[in-house]
Amino acid sequence: MAPIIQAIGLRRDYVMGSSIVHALDGLDLEVDAGEFLCIMGPSGSGKSTLLNLVGGLDRPTGGSLIVGGEDLQTLDEDALAAYRRRRVGFVFQSFNLVATMSALQNVEFPTLFARTPAKARRARAQELLGRVGLGERATHKPVELSGGEQQRVAIARALINDPAILLCDEPTGNLDTHTGREVMSLLSDTNHEGRTLLVVTHDPNVARFASRIIRLQDGQLVRDEVGENAAFVVASKQP
Ligand SMILES: Nc1ncnc2c1ncn2[C@@H]1O[C@H](COP(=O)(O)OP(=O)(O)O)[C@@H](O)[C@H]1O
Ligand SMILES: [Mg+2]
Repeated sequence: MAPIIQAIGLRRDYVMGSSIVHALDGLDLEVDAGEFLCIMGPSGSGKSTLLNLVGGLDRPTGGSLIVGGEDLQTLDEDALAAYRRRRVGFVFQSFNLVATMSALQNVEFPTLFARTPAKARRARAQELLGRVGLGERATHKPVELSGGEQQRVAIARALINDPAILLCDEPTGNLDTHTGREVMSLLSDTNHEGRTLLVVTHDPNVARFASRIIRLQDGQLVRDEVGENAAFVVASKQP
């Protein structure tokens, strides 16, 4: 089976005045469907750049990136926007919830442009809030929720369009150890359902949940090793 993600000589250069930063410097990486890939490496090594490229938030400046058999460079802006909506889900360190919206409205938000009837959308959002343990908090605004609860809302939001790939950029970075572990356990459940996870982290406790751990340095892959949960890679969703 072809890998779900395939980066070949992947490059992302940023031009800063007269100098060029090679955020990704010819990265080769294959990720199989169902993997729980942990991405480590020092600050500035290209971890977020990699997630943003895989998520279609940004475009490579060289090499190629094929996700679910689709070469992302061939997609125009509309196709890339559709890809972002349907194929991938994002979870960020800072939760990125809309402050003026309730938990339920935040979860529902990515479906507003879909043709699904409002009632079905709301039911799915409510179901997902229940799954992350926040069924009773649907009407709460982000300020009325703890950090861990906000991240759970963000995870429910990332799952609303049932993406095959979940991209998490330091998802426990703003959480205490105990809450971080709860969030990781939830992410781990989504992996056991067959989703492919890419999780950027500095935390060795988080890396323990992974089936595979890679390390980036200066935009290159410098280490690639099997994680403690390698046995749990399950039959997976294709995008
Ligand atoms: N929008 C940008 N403009 C210029 N340089 C950037 C931009 N985004 C990232 N970089 C640079 O690219 C390199 C990799 O950044 P990043 O992927 O954010 O690293 P990490 O997530 O591993 O800390 C860094 O040197 C960073 O300064
Ligand atoms: Mg980063």
